[in-house]
Amino acid sequence: MNLKHFPLPARFSPIYTKRMVLGVLGSGSGSNMQAILDAIEAGTLDARISIVLSDNPDAFILERARRHGIATGIIDCRGFKTKFPEEAQQETADRLRAAGVELVCLAGFLRLVKRPLLDVFPNRILNIHPALLPAFPGLESWKQALDAGVSETGATVHFVDEGMDTGPVILQQRVPVLPGDTAESLHARIQVAEHQLYPDAVKRVAAMISGANP
Ligand code: GRF
Repeated sequence: MNLKHFPLPARFSPIYTKRMVLGVLGSGSGSNMQAILDAIEAGTLDARISIVLSDNPDAFILERARRHGIATGIIDCRGFKTKFPEEAQQETADRLRAAGVELVCLAGFLRLVKRPLLDVFPNRILNIHPALLPAFPGLESWKQALDAGVSETGATVHFVDEGMDTGPVILQQRVPVLPGDTAESLHARIQVAEHQLYPDAVKRVAAMISGANP
């Protein structure tokens, strides 16, 4: 695996002693959440997902969660198509806290997280992005990579801040762009990388949090 590691400060000893409680927000298929669940079930990630919330009532991520007996809920965005209104962010924060969530994973969640959710979970919200940030932020990054003619792109897990895909990087994995790639074939190859990367990044952050709060 071609992983780029970002060293954590020494005081964050990676001795992982506590099962981290995760909350997941997603708008679509939820294959990244599935990868996290698979790692938990395989015993390679000591965590548990206590709740999955979606702004899209038809999102398959909710069905995946139900199949695993995980609590689900719909985020009411008050009819806004892309905005994540403040009341909805507060409700989301309240539901995550009520579910005992310590670390929030965005997994294909299509709205920009801002205050008050960021304030309730400072440095505790992760996102996965299908490019080597800071390259190709925003939507459909695999198409952006193809259009730019680069020979390599990748996947990034980062902490979420107020910007769009701007927070500190936790882990990245490189993915080659191959001759004849279409948007679909490249996205599929990036997703394979994502599914390895996200559980690893969660494990790393969980270890950091446990080290800081033994
Ligand atoms: C992933 O490619 C992720 O990088 C992006 O949205 C997609 C979500 O896929 N943020 P899934 O819902 O996890 O299958």
